[in-house]
Amino acid sequence: MQKRYGNIVGWGKYVPSTVITNADLERMVDTSDEWIRARTGIRERHVVAKGENTSDMAIAAARDALAMARVAPRDLGLIIVATSSPDYLTPPVSSQVQHALGAKDVGAFTLVAGCTGFLYALATAQQFIASGACDNVLVVGVELLSRFIDWEDRSTCVLFGDGAGAVVLQVSEEPSGVLSYVLGSDGAGAEFLIMPAGGAVLPPSPETLAKRLHYVRMDGNQVFRFATRILGKALRQAIREAGLTTEDIDLFIPHQANKRIIDSAARAVGLREEKVFLNIERYGNTSAASVPIALCEAFEQGRAKVGDTLAFVAFGAGLTWASAVVKIAPRPEPIPVQSKVGRLSVWLKALHPLGVVTRGPLAGLRAWARMIFPRRRN
Ligand code: ACO
Repeated sequence: MQKRYGNIVGWGKYVPSTVITNADLERMVDTSDEWIRARTGIRERHVVAKGENTSDMAIAAARDALAMARVAPRDLGLIIVATSSPDYLTPPVSSQVQHALGAKDVGAFTLVAGCTGFLYALATAQQFIASGACDNVLVVGVELLSRFIDWEDRSTCVLFGDGAGAVVLQVSEEPSGVLSYVLGSDGAGAEFLIMPAGGAVLPPSPETLAKRLHYVRMDGNQVFRFATRILGKALRQAIREAGLTTEDIDLFIPHQANKRIIDSAARAVGLREEKVFLNIERYGNTSAASVPIALCEAFEQGRAKVGDTLAFVAFGAGLTWASAVVKIAPRPEPIPVQSKVGRLSVWLKALHPLGVVTRGPLAGLRAWARMIFPRRRN
């Protein structure tokens, strides 16, 4: 079988409109704008409004990605949503996204790998495309951590923000799309980034609430040390496995957790500052959404363009890490959309007496056959 690549043909993002600045945080906890900027690189972060949920952000980002990809929701073969902050523990938020998009009967699942979730989902999508199981896969990274962090804990509340990013991967036979990826995990570091209560070990109770165990707890120093140790290594491995060198990378788009961690990863592989994309200043750490939001912004700002080779890297709870090298190839001709509108046009063409006269009865018959047995594009 011809090798099949997952080319990124559409992308979209959503960030809520409410902004919390470092000055706002100074009024909430014992911190300072100077400390937050110097230690993390963050100036402000976006958080959802009351009534706005994880699924809403995911759906908004997904709609933009699908529109850009010119793929109708029902023509998707699979939907993967990466998040650690879903609307509910069950049902999976991926099914809410699938239903709201109108992706009738399309398979959907939620993937949890902390801040690394989007890259795990991208690698999974690539595998579904490479195996021939799907032609189009929607990958969403979304996070609503503002409802899971302790706004009285200065060591975590200054770090995180809400948002969503999405991409559509489409099959291509040209060497493009996801050229390589590396996935890693080390559960020995589980306690360094944990939400102790709310799961099976400590179901919610008045006691867990009183002890604030249902919020994210983090040993920042341990996570920092782990990230600086692992990211350069993971990045080098993905670049090598793609058969490339650092010089071939046009833009490095890392998980936006901490500017000092990003600088150390870039130094480890010898990437110059102008090749590193940063937007942590305005969004903070949006966890599984951070890489796809940064990807969208890199395109919006002209920092990334079609034809570029991009390197991604992320780390997070688990502990987990991942890296990937992706080539953005020109988009192929649009795949015929077998949506209701597409079908209607086939109907009209088939019924139009002039069509039968000008294109002959065979064309009319073919159109009828396509209408009755539509080609399902995954
Ligand atoms: N404002 C002011 N002081 C603070 C704050 C704050 N917001 N937070 C902590 N401090 C204090 C500490 O109490 C400590 O004070 P002490 O010396 O009197 O004890 C001092 O600042 C230094 O604390 P450190 O933890 O050593 O500070 P550090 O330089 O390591 O920075 C930080 C902390 C920013 C959290 C850093 O460790 C970090 O970024 N770690 C990685 C975190 C991360 O990326 N997590 C996300 C993972 S992804 C996911 O899956 C969600």
